[in-house]
Amino acid sequence: MKLAVVTGASRGLGRAIAKVLAEENYALALGARSVGELEKLAEELDTEVFYGYLDVSSWESVEDFSWKVLERFGGVDLVVANAGVGYFGRLEEISDEDFKSMVEVNLLGLWRTIKAFLPSLKDRKGTVVAVTSDVSARVFPGGGAYVSTKWGARALVRTFQLENPEVRFLELRPGAIDTYFAGSRPGKPKEHGFLKPEEVAEALRCLLRLPPDVRVEELMLRSTYQRPEF
Ligand SMILES: NC(=O)c1ccc[n+]([C@@H]2O[C@H](COP(=O)([O-])OP(=O)(O)OC[C@H]3O[C@@H](n4cnc5c(N)ncnc54)[C@H](OP(=O)(O)O)[C@@H]3O)[C@@H](O)[C@H]2O)c1
Repeated sequence: MKLAVVTGASRGLGRAIAKVLAEENYALALGARSVGELEKLAEELDTEVFYGYLDVSSWESVEDFSWKVLERFGGVDLVVANAGVGYFGRLEEISDEDFKSMVEVNLLGLWRTIKAFLPSLKDRKGTVVAVTSDVSARVFPGGGAYVSTKWGARALVRTFQLENPEVRFLELRPGAIDTYFAGSRPGKPKEHGFLKPEEVAEALRCLLRLPPDVRVEELMLRSTYQRPEF
């Protein structure tokens, strides 16, 4: 059975992706800070599940989590680096604390997660799914701090790919999704431009079913209610 690691699996997109991966017969290692939510999710999933505390803004936490995962399963085939946070405001208004938090989670957290599992991914010719955003290659007023962490994440993913051709790196770039992101709550009307997290997870399912010698390097998807912007 193949093993998939999902970070930020306690809610939102990570949770939806975990459900799809369980249906696709992966064993799962789920990480987030809300361990109680991971426990509830694990009970719902019909596959072997390990879950544990993970704070991707701390190298110690990422290392501890990855050791536990590798000790239990021996190796990893798929890493979904999904954990992310969003704070918005004009660049002269965004606080130092909020900006630093996004750098720690969205940029350095993604780097730490991939780095921790890279030797095993190379051994198994595995796959990394790095969740960035449709804004990883555009900008908008009020989003400069968040967007810059996603542009940075895109640069990391591409550099990891060049340095590790034996691993497949997929940059998953969804538009707005109806989750808890940026302090919101699920249940927002589709007409307001939001994808459902399950829809993004379905798109990922299709890509993961492709033959292992097909490398999809990025996927951008948005609701048809979201205005096209590039
Ligand atoms: N929603 C959108 O409109 C949208 C659009 C494009 C891309 N994205 C990206 O999609 C990804 C998932 O976001 P979402 O929409 O599902 O938001 P969400 O519902 O707020 O979920 C975010 C997840 O990230 C985890 N997380 C946050 N900080 C963490 C940390 N320090 N260490 C480990 N896990 C952490 C949270 O778990 P804990 O709090 O339990 O740690 C949670 O499971 C993010 O990378 C986000 O940037 C979102």
